Amino acid sequence: MPDSARPKTSILADIHASTRLIHPNKQVPEGFRGVQPAVYRASTVFFESTQAMRQRNWQDDYDYSYGLHGTPTTYALADRIAALEGGEYCILAPSGLSAISLVNFTFLQQGDEVWLPDNIYGPNKDLIKQLKAQFGIEYYLYDPLDVSSFKPTPKAKLIWLEAAGSVTLEFPDLCGLVKKAQAANILTVLDNTWGAGLAFCPFDFSVEHLSVDISVHALTKYPSGGADVLMGSMVTRQRKLHLALLRTHALQGIGIGGDDAERIIRSLPSIQLRYAQQDDNTRQLADWLSQQDCFAHVLHPALPDAAGHAFWQQVCGVSNGAAGLVSVLFKPEFSLEQVDAFCDALQLFKLGYSWGGPVSLVMPYQLNSMRQISPTYNGVLVRFCIGLEHIEDLIADINQALYKLLI
Ligand SMILES: Cc1ncc(COP(=O)(O)O)c(C=O)c1O
Repeated sequence: MPDSARPKTSILADIHASTRLIHPNKQVPEGFRGVQPAVYRASTVFFESTQAMRQRNWQDDYDYSYGLHGTPTTYALADRIAALEGGEYCILAPSGLSAISLVNFTFLQQGDEVWLPDNIYGPNKDLIKQLKAQFGIEYYLYDPLDVSSFKPTPKAKLIWLEAAGSVTLEFPDLCGLVKKAQAANILTVLDNTWGAGLAFCPFDFSVEHLSVDISVHALTKYPSGGADVLMGSMVTRQRKLHLALLRTHALQGIGIGGDDAERIIRSLPSIQLRYAQQDDNTRQLADWLSQQDCFAHVLHPALPDAAGHAFWQQVCGVSNGAAGLVSVLFKPEFSLEQVDAFCDALQLFKLGYSWGGPVSLVMPYQLNSMRQISPTYNGVLVRFCIGLEHIEDLIADINQALYKLLI
């Protein structure tokens, strides 16, 4: 080969401008440190060599192999969520519901039996119904306040726990249920969105240091705090469970973006302050609501007459935490139309799902279609999710809407 035809040993010194913009000849030094971690966005992740690529192990705690599995930004968030909940391992999913779904798909097989609290987050129950129809997974409902209603057979694989339960906010007999499930060798999975890792530690609660196996958290709520990000997490202290979840996570192609992770990382330092403020506002509102004539019940676990109040004290007694939700059951003489009109008359409270954000929310529910084994509540229920507005303004808003209802 003539010298003129021989390729250059290194081509990088003399490449075209368009290529140079993709392969810059200068790299900024590493080691920059600010308050927040860098935001990495990636599908492709470079390997140093084919050997490094072949040695890639999906079980590594920080598997830098493909953006779907994780980036430094998403791993940084996962580490913080594990710390928030007192767990060891954390996997992130694009919503709370996708985290719930991933747990169900990982651990439930044809012929298995799963136990659900009567007041479970509705879409989880709907998903399990679908799994029953598609894959023959049997489900049973239990009364969260009565351990004896949880009667696992040898086919029982998993029990879902929720503290406090959705919409009606009964605090379950968490200790009794976990002990019974452990005795029967059943996986305990807690939807810990309400407690958020702040009202109690899911891996070390009550004086008996009880622990669930897996804590699922809709980070959409308090960790985000802005009502503008959807995300979910699965935290555990058990590597075997973590790896089982991680496998499904990879096979189902579940991943989250760096920008969403960064938004939650940014909100986490203030989560405790926000949670405490929303909790305090909610208790003041619950006290005020209790004095109004039109409600048959005010539902909030810290109220002494609340269903499960003693269980709440047993588990949340140390933190005294109770989140930012309160529900009211209108007296039976109020029709659905009247309650809808009350919701529409609110000015600061907005009609919308979710919670944990700065804006207070309201949502009416018809309980008779939602509860199968605890039909003690008749009438229309309204759930308030308390934001960060001044409590006097929120009370004034409800007061004016009630006044319109009563005239
Ligand atoms: C108790 C509970 N768990 C899970 C979820 C699901 O979270 P996401 O909206 O992120 O799917 C919600 C949402 O409202 C919830 O209230």
